Amino acid sequence: MATPRPRPGILDIAPYVGGESKIAGINRIIKLSSNESAIGPSPKAIAAHQAAAPDMFRYPDGDSKLLREAIGRHHGLDPARIVCGAGSDELLHLLVTCYAMPGDEVLYNKHGFAIYPIAAMTAGAVPVAAPEVNYTASVDTLLERVSSRTRLVMLANPNNPTGTYLSRAELQRLHAGMPKDALLVIDSAYAEFVSRADYTAGEDLVDAHDNVIMTRTFSKLYGLAGLRVGWAYGPPAIVDVLNRTRPPFNVNLPAQAAAVAALDDVGHTQKARDHNARWLPWLAAELTKLGLPPVPSVANFVLVPLGSPQRAKAAQDFLRTRGILVRQMGGYHLPDFLRVSVGLQDELEAFIAAMGDFLKQAR
Ligand SMILES: Cc1ncc(COP(=O)(O)O)c(C=O)c1O
Repeated sequence: MATPRPRPGILDIAPYVGGESKIAGINRIIKLSSNESAIGPSPKAIAAHQAAAPDMFRYPDGDSKLLREAIGRHHGLDPARIVCGAGSDELLHLLVTCYAMPGDEVLYNKHGFAIYPIAAMTAGAVPVAAPEVNYTASVDTLLERVSSRTRLVMLANPNNPTGTYLSRAELQRLHAGMPKDALLVIDSAYAEFVSRADYTAGEDLVDAHDNVIMTRTFSKLYGLAGLRVGWAYGPPAIVDVLNRTRPPFNVNLPAQAAAVAALDDVGHTQKARDHNARWLPWLAAELTKLGLPPVPSVANFVLVPLGSPQRAKAAQDFLRTRGILVRQMGGYHLPDFLRVSVGLQDELEAFIAAMGDFLKQAR
């Protein structure tokens, strides 16, 4: 009997696998597997979410107007050129489906964020992966792979799962080498953690060109991953395309309220940034003492080399017995590595102690 069949290529997509959040039989989980905020959301965001709850029978503002205005004020950007999404994931998917046709190419770096090839294949496009150099996106290898079919170049900056970044000058070089009819998507999900002088989240490139868009999220520094709020800042023509194609009420009502409150609570945001600035170097230093120097990261996680897929799996399994969740990176072509988020002090201390025990018993 005939049954509905998806478009060719859809069943070739390996579903996205998120970080684990539970271990059967263990109550206190230390979750360092999803790059979430260590300190959680602003109490003001929680209060705003709760205050909005009685209105949940109402549709949200389909244009997320107050939220776009708050983002615009906070970042000095024109709210008319901002689009909000149910997480930045939604906007990344939309960009690919709106700009790539079947057979077109979506270029990204090999250890880039897993959503890019998934979005490409959803559109029937061909994901083209360029190798990194020193676990860092390489403008040269990306540009070598540009073809007449390249429609989008997608770059997470800093990148997940490597934690490395490209400077403003390198982004400009990448853009300069791209065809003018291809779109550069700068995914700056971890921008708020970066304090390097040569870094840009991408607003300046968006302002200078009509084929660059930047995506951002409330899921990381702002600690609202469960609410699904992201946004994009782009040229008017691309913003128009996103507004025509996104679901009309894509950001829910309490999420909009919580995101506005989170932006206003600059004290909490600073606390989250300070926490990361203190504990990211500590985590890297402790891992180095254990003989596991991580890839240098500017984000809120580190990529830890275990030497082989078997040893990475054994370490992950050992940590699970202590209630600690980290993530082996096989899905990102890095099966020798574990990715570990910057958690709270006691969580990180427990992780380092457990890694020390693992190394002793694995000897
Ligand atoms: C590089 C990168 N981009 C985008 C996202 C998606 O974030 P969200 O959809 O929660 O905004 C993530 C989430 O892990 C990420 O690591």
